[in-house]
Amino acid sequence: MSLQTILPGRLGFGTAPLGNMFRAIPDEDARATVEAAWDQGIRYYDTAPFYGAGLAEERLGQVLSGKPRDSYVLSSKVGRVILDEHETETPDFGEKGGLFEHGNPNKVLHEWTADATERSIEGSLRRLGVDRLDIVWVHDIAQDFHGDAWIQKFEEARTGAFRVLSRLRDEGVIKAWGLGVNKTEPIELTLALDEPQPDGFLLAGRYTLLDHAHALQRLLPLAQEQGVDMVVGGPYSSGVLAGGTNFEYQQAPPEIVERVRKLTELTDKHGISIKAAALQFSLAHPASAAVIPGATRPSRIAEDTAALAENVPTAFWSDLRAGGLVSPAAPLPQGA
Ligand SMILES: NC(=O)c1ccc[n+]([C@@H]2O[C@H](COP(=O)([O-])OP(=O)(O)OC[C@H]3O[C@@H](n4cnc5c(N)ncnc54)[C@H](OP(=O)(O)O)[C@@H]3O)[C@@H](O)[C@H]2O)c1
Repeated sequence: MSLQTILPGRLGFGTAPLGNMFRAIPDEDARATVEAAWDQGIRYYDTAPFYGAGLAEERLGQVLSGKPRDSYVLSSKVGRVILDEHETETPDFGEKGGLFEHGNPNKVLHEWTADATERSIEGSLRRLGVDRLDIVWVHDIAQDFHGDAWIQKFEEARTGAFRVLSRLRDEGVIKAWGLGVNKTEPIELTLALDEPQPDGFLLAGRYTLLDHAHALQRLLPLAQEQGVDMVVGGPYSSGVLAGGTNFEYQQAPPEIVERVRKLTELTDKHGISIKAAALQFSLAHPASAAVIPGATRPSRIAEDTAALAENVPTAFWSDLRAGGLVSPAAPLPQGA
């Protein structure tokens, strides 16, 4: 089923930061943030076992399990099974470093086999306190987590998770499945397979104001050709496009800070917020079904909903294009 048919609106909420990414977030702040999302009318929530070794799912579930299940859409991910046993050493997530060092202490089994996929979904349902997921993403079978060994992980998922999720989708247990990754290559590879195809994909950080040229080259034309749509994750490139200091989950390097400065100069000139430019840019591609910024403070949610509704003048988009701040191939709102 196409994502555009399933998703209830174009703004969702991403819960990676609620897994104590970067810092330990008080439970009451996490709860208030999810409640703010609900109160602002957001009805699509994305989470994953990986986000704080189950912590983000638990926190999201505390709010959502009290809501009628048919009134919202929920996605989680497979590829990491959360064990009861606790970690004794600091886990190594490759270039993602100690991303969730403040999360739950449980050991995480990284596995994309059929058996692990079923166990992962069971664990998610238990932590979330719900009886079903609507969308399941195959999480992080990509180079950023596995280096060159990502191809082996991909193969494990192709013969494991992909088949289980296709079956669950065909049986109507879930509505859709796809890949949830920070890289375009695994999605391109999946779309080229002569096998049951995913319904869509969650592409994080690769269709933002700061990084989109690569996705426009092969992935998005292929996706459009096949009628497969995208949820845009990490629309603020993990914070720097929203007034934060992180880019790609690390301190933003000087060249990124400089590009954000130029973008902010332009948004200031047109009297708009950088959040409006970031979210509306990510949604302007015809393959974009929704955008899912993350947050750990309730005030962010009001900013995000306002940013989506903000009236951005066509002249801003024209200036953005003329200033070489976006790829010439990027579709812009209002056909600018
Ligand atoms: N592989 C995958 O499938 C994958 C990968 C990445 C992301 N995702 C999904 O996409 C979602 C969004 O990505 P993300 O949460 O990593 O990054 P993001 O949405 O690009 O940025 C979120 C960050 O922006 C910060 N922010 C928002 N408003 C701000 C403001 N006014 N001033 C300063 N900072 C501000 C938030 O800070 P605060 O915490 O202070 O509110 C938060 O940490 C995730 O939560 C996840 O659901 C999926």
